[in-house]
Amino acid sequence: MNTDLLHRDRIDIFRRKIFDFYDDNRRSFPWRQTCDRYAVMVSEIMLQQTQAERVAQKYGLWMERFPDMATLASSSLRDVLALWSGLGYNSRGQRLQSCARAVMERFGGEVPADPAELKTLPGIGDYTCRSIPVFADNLDLAAVDTNIRRIIIHEFALPEDTTKRQMQAAAEQLLPPGRSRDWHNALMDYGSLCLTSRTTGIRPQTRQSKFQGSKRWYRGRLLRELVASEQLLLEEIGERYGDCPWGFREIVDGLVRDGLVDEVESANGKGRVLRIRE
Ligand code: ADE
Repeated sequence: MNTDLLHRDRIDIFRRKIFDFYDDNRRSFPWRQTCDRYAVMVSEIMLQQTQAERVAQKYGLWMERFPDMATLASSSLRDVLALWSGLGYNSRGQRLQSCARAVMERFGGEVPADPAELKTLPGIGDYTCRSIPVFADNLDLAAVDTNIRRIIIHEFALPEDTTKRQMQAAAEQLLPPGRSRDWHNALMDYGSLCLTSRTTGIRPQTRQSKFQGSKRWYRGRLLRELVASEQLLLEEIGERYGDCPWGFREIVDGLVRDGLVDEVESANGKGRVLRIRE
């Protein structure tokens, strides 16, 4: 793409439109009232695939239970998953904790502001390694998630197959220097309130598949049961999950492979049991 496609005049008009919209329509969320990098990291990881309204219900409870990096790093996976429940994609909760442990070990408990360093942490990708220093530090970086991509495609009539690199370059041109925190919040609100996937017809690059009865649904169901009990006999849950079209074994193997669950011989000789990893 010729980045001159985004003409100076059009950039100024667009910035004004987005900030005018934000002046009248800004949403209030608890994570917008903090510049603490740990708190921003928590909210950004929660927001990766979960709607803001749903995250808003959980975020306060999370910050009460795990107020800082050291508390999260030293908590049990069971406690982390119990609180994550309701946000979906449990492995994100686990990755957030792995991230906290890595920050304790490698960065002395201080979340770095440098995107290259952030990207080395579990659960932090191209968007989140920028969005954390944007929201926490107001650094001049452009973070492109699926909502911001949709806005840029729609407003500048770009093709849907615009590459990631081109999209990044366009987002960097649009960024108003010194105002990245407000700019990204404003774009999030504009995208969410005015330019949904439905109104624009622009599909996200990765679509969430139907949930009920999916492999992810069975994973979530089994994991919730395991969080609620000390351990469960493999044979007994195998019978209860007999209707699982993916094969019960595959669901268990996936949870073990992802480091969420251990399968071990029970102490009383009754057979193999599953339990949340210590
Ligand atoms: N999605 C990702 N980050 C967000 C934020 N800071 N506010 C609202 N939605 C978001």
